[in-house]
Amino acid sequence: MHARTPGAMLLLHRNSALHRQTDKLTCSACSFDRDLRWRTGVNIVPVHCDSANGFQVTAAALQAAYEEAEAAGTRVRAVLLTNPSNPLGTTVTRPALEDVLDFVARNNIHLISDEIYSGSVFAAPDLVSVAELVESRGDPGVAERVHIVYSLSKDLGLPGFRVGVVYSYNDAVVTAARRMSSFTLVSSQTQKTLAAMLSDAGFADAYVRTNRQRLRARHDHVVAGLARAGVPCLRGNAGLFVWMDMRRLLGEATTVAGELRLWDRMLREAKLNISPGSSCHCSEPGWFRVCFANMSLDTLDVALARMSRFVDTWNKETTASTQQH
Ligand SMILES: Cc1ncc(COP(=O)(O)O)c(C=O)c1O
Repeated sequence: MHARTPGAMLLLHRNSALHRQTDKLTCSACSFDRDLRWRTGVNIVPVHCDSANGFQVTAAALQAAYEEAEAAGTRVRAVLLTNPSNPLGTTVTRPALEDVLDFVARNNIHLISDEIYSGSVFAAPDLVSVAELVESRGDPGVAERVHIVYSLSKDLGLPGFRVGVVYSYNDAVVTAARRMSSFTLVSSQTQKTLAAMLSDAGFADAYVRTNRQRLRARHDHVVAGLARAGVPCLRGNAGLFVWMDMRRLLGEATTVAGELRLWDRMLREAKLNISPGSSCHCSEPGWFRVCFANMSLDTLDVALARMSRFVDTWNKETTASTQQH
């Protein structure tokens, strides 16, 4: 699963209002290179978060990324945040979100909050949308810098429909998005189907509830299976994936190269293709994103059994090589 730009997400198109103002984005999320950088020419600077605080974004990390960009001669124009996070499978805490909002207000830049997984929060704490913070601050100067993006691809499992939403407090952005949307219109058949589905409140409630229950069951199943194999995960509460901690298996090789060697071994020996953290610009080698929602339970169990055998083999090899030394 990779981040893809839905047809209606126009904010970063060459001719959109925001893009004209945007030389550089700082980004604390996964895989936006292809989605945002290649077509628009916008640069992305990762904001480095680490396991010490569960990878929550901090004011210090934002400031460091900002200074790094400015030192390289580039003007930062916006922060892009995914909440709930892809690849972490966690929601951003309220204090962290307050820090992000303070940061964009202080630096006179924009915040794009990608809340595409907002309906897939399956355990506490519940999602705090940046919209809540904007409403409670009641400051129009801050509000007009905040843009929320959403699509039906994840929560409703409808990536093929190509329907997305831009929820912005900035009239110029909304006007530009509305005008640009005429190039990416949603088909009438799709609109009719969605209108029938979404206006059926009973169906929508039951769908969201069932989806959350199933995601939670799946999540717990994967986390328990990985724990039995001796692999811990970051405590997750949202999304379609878990953030798996394989740092122990890197041994001395705590580098991106070591992480990619481990990825390659899992691919060749266990036939498991699990996204390495470095593909999401994670600066702490050894973390991998495991997607758990796009396969049958039987397939998932095959994957867990292979992972368990892979770790067993690794343990035996490590014990044998320690005994030789
Ligand atoms: C955080 C995030 N944003 C946006 C997208 C784009 O999804 P789509 O283009 O299918 O709507 C994805 C898909 O992986 C995602 O993970």
